[in-house]
Amino acid sequence: MKIFMDTANVEEIREFADMGIVYGVTTNPSLIAKSGRTQAEVIPEICALIPGPVSAEVISQDCEGMVKEARELVKIADNVVVKIPCITEGLKAVKILAAEGIKTNVTLVFSLGQALLAARSGASYVSPFIGRLDDIGQDGSKLVEDMVKVFRNYQFKTEIIAASVRNMAHVDRMMLAGVDIATIPTKVLRELIKHELTDKGLAKFMEDYRNSLK
Ligand code: E4P
Repeated sequence: MKIFMDTANVEEIREFADMGIVYGVTTNPSLIAKSGRTQAEVIPEICALIPGPVSAEVISQDCEGMVKEARELVKIADNVVVKIPCITEGLKAVKILAAEGIKTNVTLVFSLGQALLAARSGASYVSPFIGRLDDIGQDGSKLVEDMVKVFRNYQFKTEIIAASVRNMAHVDRMMLAGVDIATIPTKVLRELIKHELTDKGLAKFMEDYRNSLK
């Protein structure tokens, strides 16, 4: 499972890129707003830090507008992937962009049916939202587990990005499901690094080392 960072905060991305664990990045209009900067400022900086896929989302909701925005976004850097919402106009845009060789990430996916349509329209990536399904009492991770099976059965080339990841249990289930990618917020990545026995064990090793010098 490849790790993407789900943030538009360049400092956070730099910190984790230094550990060599970040393969790509996903952003959305909410994450851009949270960064306090504009998409035009943030995306080039992220693309310079991370050579892998960096998703930047369109704002238009009609096919023509999305295609126009996408063509501009990919001029920023070679690794920009255009994030398109899973709506009728979005899937039309994905088809056009795929024919032009522009990579897309179909976002706001909440069902197997939507995932199938996204893959068939030519999306490079599809992003099911785990946490938001959990929020309405469904099992978001189960959707991704099912998607992995379906995509393998039909040998779809579209990669699955598990999105809306909220906790370590989500990450564990995504790994076990064999999903291609999980896009993980910084807070959860920090939790993944930590284990109380690591801290305790390290403190004991240091104590024993100091004692051995006496
Ligand atoms: C990433 O592609 C998604 O936009 C993001 O994971 C959504 O996460 P949220 O449901 O926590 O806002």
